Amino acid sequence: KETKLWGGRFEDSVTDIVEKFTESISFDKQLYKHDIMGSKAHASMLAEQGLISFSDRDSILKGLDEIERRIEAGEFVWRTDREDVHMNIEAALTDLVGEPAKKLHTARSRNDQVLTDFRLWCRDAIDRIISSIRHLQVALVKLALNNEGLIIPGYTHLQRAQPVLLQHLLLAYVEQLDRDAGRLLDCRARLNFCPLGACALAGTGLPIDRFMTSEALGFTAPMRNSIDAVSDRDFVLEFLSANSIIAVHLSRIGEEWVLWASEEFGFITPSDSVSTGSSIMPQKKNPDPMELVRGKSGRVIGDLVTLLTLCKGLPLAYNRDLQEDKEPTFDSVKTITGMLEVSAEFAQNITFNYKRIQKALPAGYLDATTLADYLVKKGIPFRTSHDIVGRSVALCVSKNCQLQDLSLEDMRNLSPVFDNDVYEFLGVENAVKKFSSYGSTGFACVADQLDDWAAKLEINKS
Ligand code: ARG
Repeated sequence: KETKLWGGRFEDSVTDIVEKFTESISFDKQLYKHDIMGSKAHASMLAEQGLISFSDRDSILKGLDEIERRIEAGEFVWRTDREDVHMNIEAALTDLVGEPAKKLHTARSRNDQVLTDFRLWCRDAIDRIISSIRHLQVALVKLALNNEGLIIPGYTHLQRAQPVLLQHLLLAYVEQLDRDAGRLLDCRARLNFCPLGACALAGTGLPIDRFMTSEALGFTAPMRNSIDAVSDRDFVLEFLSANSIIAVHLSRIGEEWVLWASEEFGFITPSDSVSTGSSIMPQKKNPDPMELVRGKSGRVIGDLVTLLTLCKGLPLAYNRDLQEDKEPTFDSVKTITGMLEVSAEFAQNITFNYKRIQKALPAGYLDATTLADYLVKKGIPFRTSHDIVGRSVALCVSKNCQLQDLSLEDMRNLSPVFDNDVYEFLGVENAVKKFSSYGSTGFACVADQLDDWAAKLEINKS
């Protein structure tokens, strides 16, 4: 067995069971790119500060390039007895370039190293997730552009409420996703500080330049407190919180689209390319991707809870428990990325069933609130007009008809202020036309929203 990098004070090697239990190489090898990046910045700084020679630096940089090449070519052998990504790369570098490699870990601990890697990894992951969010937003805006003028029932309590433009509803998702991207950007700005040089927990007496490594790695500045730098994981907690909120948003979209695809709603038909069948029921065509979006949101939330629970009992500074921060983070990122991608794919592969929607639209008195507003415009206090319209609806229920089917005489019996112009307020199309407040579902307001989003997302409207 090879002596451990930390083997000096040990007489015995660890048992196989302990080695297998404590290793992290099986998952933290994902950090290799960022580990190498951090080591290069560190070696360059050590040379500038006179802590190693420039020729040692050059051997280290060349060796690290070769290791990166081998990893990417699949030639690198990851060894469990070398525990984690940091020691695998450092030991392989020593095998490759000899003595100079032994100087790389000067003024560095795995505690600050792992956090440097992890912050860099999260920064890249955030950028990737934001671009997946934009992709989904584009798909939703295009879906809206392709379905101009379609009115659907809007729901509260899952009961028919008021008519809305489909475009308006789709843009509601787009707004939510935009705040999601904003939360990730906030998180990115807060995590972009460099722990490197905090060493084990207390810093070092060697003349390092933390500002130099921080800048080389694209961080805003070095972290100010070395104990904080190696202890805290709030940057991942924040990241996984932002992912959890995205997951909840996507899960709600999933639920809505699954409902819409049901025979009972029948609002959308997903294409075969985003549907799956049943092994027993030959007729089935199921919207599985969106069901799984709903389902996988549980994992993303679970990943956050795992990490919160992991951190809650830990004293400062580094504790080995913290090695458990990586798998939930990797899982959260992989899952949320898949959820965003599949949602965009689904959005690009659904058609709205205009006939079915339009046929079902008159039911549910969606224009009742517009009628109440009509009476307000005629000077009736809203509470009174609410009551008059309530009684009008009750009359319709007893006659089994819609509000627009009532005769003027019927209505005048309920209130003398009803006039012929009332019919301009009735029917879903008329009702939607009457909306005019900022942010409302009125045609002009929605067209403005859509223009803004198309411009912001650089979508060609033709
Ligand atoms: N694999 C470890 C982790 O992920 C690296 C830091 C180990 N530090 C230590 N003192 N054992 O946290």
